[in-house]
Amino acid sequence: MYSRIAGTGGYLPERVLTNAELEKMVDTSDEWIRSRTGIISRHIVSPGETTVDLAEHAARAALQSAGVEPQEVDFIVFGTTTPDLIFPNCGVLLQQRLGIHGCPAFSVEAACTGFIYSLSIADKFVRLGEAKCALVIGAETLTRMVNWKDRQTCVLFADGAGAVVLKPSDEPGIVSTHLHADGRYQDLLYYPGGVSKGWVEPGDGQGVQMRGNEVFKVAVNTLGRIVDETLEANKLQKSQIDWLVPHQANIRIIQATAKKLEMPLEKVIITVHEHGNTSAASVPLALDVGVRDGRIKRGDLLLLEAFGGGFTWGSALVRY
Ligand code: ACO
Repeated sequence: MYSRIAGTGGYLPERVLTNAELEKMVDTSDEWIRSRTGIISRHIVSPGETTVDLAEHAARAALQSAGVEPQEVDFIVFGTTTPDLIFPNCGVLLQQRLGIHGCPAFSVEAACTGFIYSLSIADKFVRLGEAKCALVIGAETLTRMVNWKDRQTCVLFADGAGAVVLKPSDEPGIVSTHLHADGRYQDLLYYPGGVSKGWVEPGDGQGVQMRGNEVFKVAVNTLGRIVDETLEANKLQKSQIDWLVPHQANIRIIQATAKKLEMPLEKVIITVHEHGNTSAASVPLALDVGVRDGRIKRGDLLLLEAFGGGFTWGSALVRY
């Protein structure tokens, strides 16, 4: 038994924040942001709008594209680092929004790798026959954790939600997933407060802390290694991958991974220019964009990958 993606969905908040607007907020320029990151604009939440608000839109779109009613969902796993509440977890809050009750619903916190971790968990439950219709979410309001006076981070992060529905299948589907983490790098990218350590507001000197240049180097090396690991585990040649669906942190990191795969950028789903870095939402959002605009077709072989704070990283080989 395997699991397969029966439908995808995505949602971006209405408010668009352009590089030109950021030029008025911090000492930066459209040229710097474009050339160093590839980002031109990004979507951010409005006051009162939450991670679960975004997730509900993405989930309903995924259910519709899978031809599934909310009542059929029997498993919810929700990747996020920016939950509405400490508890109930976002999976439960989403379950309530969808008007369903009783099935397991939980959140997974693995920064930008949250969706890949969630997909891997849901895949196991479906394969074991313990879930027949799993809803897998990656959703974030990362801009709520950003210090808007810190030009090194505020130009990067953004908000959004993506979702997939997994159903059982005789054929893969999710071919393999590969998950990793290494806490030695915790000081390179982190948020400095939490419940147990004490909350800090993301204002002056606080907010997401990142040593960007060092993160960049580790990200490129690590994603290169996970590409090799995924290909070797499945005895695949690079040329057999139809589409790379990468985490959208930085166009230069995406280009490096594509080069490693010897893939032209035409075979890479790129959304970073319009989405920015939406953390756990970025991979399912990019997947949904590629599916809905017709580039990704049934039967295509996809390599999904992500890298984020921790560090955490992972990949999924998917026969769509
Ligand atoms: N505008 C203008 N100048 C800036 C800005 C800005 N927004 N930000 C930094 N600079 C300056 C720096 O101060 C520095 O100036 P200096 O040379 O006078 O000291 C110069 O630009 C170069 O800074 P670098 O940090 O070396 O620039 P780099 O080319 O590395 O680009 C960036 C920075 C875009 C952050 C890049 O390092 C990056 O993308 N890193 C990885 C981010 C990432 O992948 N995160 C992981 C996932 S996120 C998650 O898990 C939540």
